[in-house]
Amino acid sequence: MDKFAKTDFYIMDAIKKRWSPRSFNTDKAKDETIKSEEKIQRIFEAARWAPSAYNAQPWRFIIGFRNDDTHKIIQRTLVDKNKSWAKDAFALIIAIAKNTLDDNVTPNPTALYDLGQSVANMSLQATAEKLHMHQMAGFSAEEAIKLLEIPDGYTPVTAIALGYRDSAFRLPHNLRTIELTERERHPSRDFVFVKKFGEKTDLLKKAILYYMED
Ligand SMILES: Cc1cc2nc3c(=O)[nH]c(=O)nc-3n(C[C@H](O)[C@H](O)[C@H](O)COP(=O)(O)O)c2cc1C
Repeated sequence: MDKFAKTDFYIMDAIKKRWSPRSFNTDKAKDETIKSEEKIQRIFEAARWAPSAYNAQPWRFIIGFRNDDTHKIIQRTLVDKNKSWAKDAFALIIAIAKNTLDDNVTPNPTALYDLGQSVANMSLQATAEKLHMHQMAGFSAEEAIKLLEIPDGYTPVTAIALGYRDSAFRLPHNLRTIELTERERHPSRDFVFVKKFGEKTDLLKKAILYYMED
């Protein structure tokens, strides 16, 4: 089952189809296509072409593939709840922000923002590759710094599971329920304002009529 967004307005496919599953496929042969068909390469290429303040590109990633040491180490940094499902993902990634600009001194106030943009690019490219990503704040940055030798001046921000998704019915009951629950969002009218903060606009009131279903 896929959980495409039930959007109020027509949006591009990759955004509509992106979602964060917990059931990941562990078929080795299938997973290997992610590397051999250059899907993983394209996903990081998408990260690479994100915009960033001063073009500082303050994103760094450490990736481990299932069964390798890095994957195991990243698993160890995860909170138990995330570990229980993320252990099956083809790849586990730590997304890291570089805290300073190119001079390695001046703080970069938008490093986190820019890292987020690069991960957003990755997630959309992954969707276009029929892959899924699941970002996680539930990990220990301290453990990641220690175990992955992340130097001063760099902040691990999220862990990411990446792979082909699998059936919700592989999951234990509690996670299965979440996996099968419809995705929800606040209406855009609630967060887009005109004139001043909090003032809503009628522009976003109605769903347009040419809404297209796949
Ligand atoms: C920065 C960030 C941290 C997140 N942390 C976790 C996490 O630790 N565990 C988890 O199961 N999901 C985590 N998520 C996934 C969100 O719960 C999920 O994106 C949100 O519910 C919307 O669902 P969707 O991505 O399927 O649209 C995180 C997402 C983001 C962007």
